[in-house]
Amino acid sequence: MAKIIAGIGTSHTPAIGAAVDNGKMGEPYWVPLFKGYEPAKKWMADTNPDVVIMVYNDHVNAFDFKIIPTFALGCADEFKIADEGWGARPVPVVKGYPELASHMIQSLVLDEFDMTIVNEMQVDHGLTTPMSLLFGQPKAWPCRVIPLAVNVIQYPAPTGHRCYMLGKAIKKAVEDWDEDLKVVIFGTGGMSHQIQGPRAGLVNKEFDKAFLDGLSGDPERLSRISPLEYLRDAGAEAIELVMWLIMRGALGENVKEAYRFYHVPASSTAVGHIILESA
Ligand SMILES: [Fe+2]
Repeated sequence: MAKIIAGIGTSHTPAIGAAVDNGKMGEPYWVPLFKGYEPAKKWMADTNPDVVIMVYNDHVNAFDFKIIPTFALGCADEFKIADEGWGARPVPVVKGYPELASHMIQSLVLDEFDMTIVNEMQVDHGLTTPMSLLFGQPKAWPCRVIPLAVNVIQYPAPTGHRCYMLGKAIKKAVEDWDEDLKVVIFGTGGMSHQIQGPRAGLVNKEFDKAFLDGLSGDPERLSRISPLEYLRDAGAEAIELVMWLIMRGALGENVKEAYRFYHVPASSTAVGHIILESA
């Protein structure tokens, strides 16, 4: 049986990927951030998952405004790296797992989640930055990756509660797959941040801490945070945090917090990171 053994929450700020690609990790601005991810990289190397389910959002690279799927599951053999305007990141191509992804589609649609099947897709920093943070700079990524792109760019994004319920359905789908696989699921984006308008640069440390605390202790409460509350309390782009609730829903009731890291700022965002092991 395949099993989701852990969940990872992490920001996916593009500047982090650029710092990796341009050899800036040793610069004073970036040292504290990358130091904070060192224990997480070790955890990942020790855990050595077979498959990663990467919940992230596309930033108008794979999907333009002609088609905006709410939940899009990548079913391809591989996913090329998107050129986001300054050339594709020099990171390995992402190898998918079409058989498992197709199984997940079937299970999720029969469980009444209207997934979009994506057979060809490029992946942007939303997916590749977390890969770099947790896996470093290998020649090839050490596991297969199933991308789950969530629309948090164009109003209306799915609610936190809908995401949490989708996570629960993903857990069921994975456990129905008859192959011994260690699966780690990522929820990416966030934490508090706003990149435009008069409130640009907004960070709310109290909100972020309460969110990190709630992931282990009270995810049901987090799942009831409304879109307006994210916007008001944590900035326009904090809605990305609903993707962490997909991750949390996929872990089952009890989890053990294995690691946490919080750092302000990276670019203009609050960077949060948590590792939750399924009990
Ligand atoms: Fe993002």
